[in-house]
Amino acid sequence: MTDQPGFPMLRLRRLRRTEALRRLVRETALTADDLVMPYFVLPGRGRREPVPSMPGVERVSGDELLKEADRVAALRLPGVLLFGLPSRKDARGSEAWDERGPVQRAVREIKRRGHGFAVMTDVCLCEYTTHGHCGVIRGGEIANDPTLPLLARVAVSHARAGADLVAPSDMIDGRVGAVRAALDRAGFQSTGILAYAAKYASAFYGPFREAAGSTPQFGDRRGYQMDPPNADEALREIAADLAEGADVVMVKPALAYLDVVRRARERFGVPVAAYSVSGEYAMLKAAGARGWIDEPRAMLEMLTGIKRAGTSFIITYHAKDAAKLLRS
Ligand code: PBG
Repeated sequence: MTDQPGFPMLRLRRLRRTEALRRLVRETALTADDLVMPYFVLPGRGRREPVPSMPGVERVSGDELLKEADRVAALRLPGVLLFGLPSRKDARGSEAWDERGPVQRAVREIKRRGHGFAVMTDVCLCEYTTHGHCGVIRGGEIANDPTLPLLARVAVSHARAGADLVAPSDMIDGRVGAVRAALDRAGFQSTGILAYAAKYASAFYGPFREAAGSTPQFGDRRGYQMDPPNADEALREIAADLAEGADVVMVKPALAYLDVVRRARERFGVPVAAYSVSGEYAMLKAAGARGWIDEPRAMLEMLTGIKRAGTSFIITYHAKDAAKLLRS
């Protein structure tokens, strides 16, 4: 509007003068309700193993995870996302759908304990395969369609254990539809799908692969994960996953892809999640440990930015620490 008066009548600093005024016009409120805590679940009992590249993050066995679950509940976080570490790997990743696998057991135990927070499970094969890829190998390639029934089987085993949302993270074409059909066939119409819809072939997964032992043993994931410069293509991925039955679509990593979050939110008006990945966490922790950055402030600023971009919730290894600050 051209009749909008400018300076000196307009002074935007007036509303920044005191904390009360700033609070009144604050546009984004980050709360613990926005945060989901990821966990790496080990087989066995009494195990807690720190992840060197992710200070403050430990891989835990099921019994230790139950203690974590009590903390998550006390902090009133709305959800957790579980990754499993198998006791043995094979070419097809068969422990991924084992009813007695670490994730399946952990989900059952958390649910039996009566916690109300949402339990989400990562559905992928890379932690379970000897080659570390997210699908089965045929002729040296990551085969698409032969991978689908395996992913569907994993998802059904998680649903049977009681997962609220299953989260396919493999970037194999058609997996959301395959998972939805398998869940429905098995009677799990109410189990939701959180699709890693726009997941990029990112350098920021490095620390996770150390934690999960899921580094590909040959090649890389560029033949199935997305090319980082592409955003229009991300919208096509998201549209495809929604058409196949995704309930929530996720963009991953978060910080370098906030334009994709914003566009997805505006285009589709559906719940969009973001995964602030291991490398984002590690960078902040490393700079904080050296005194190069004010870690708590930078953490909240980063998470607020991800929220402001349009996310419904954020998966972040900072979830517990941030919730403590936000609840106090
Ligand atoms: C499995 C998976 C990965 C992450 C989540 N699920 C790793 C990968 O694709 O290599 C990354 C999470 C993180 O870095 O925090 N496919």
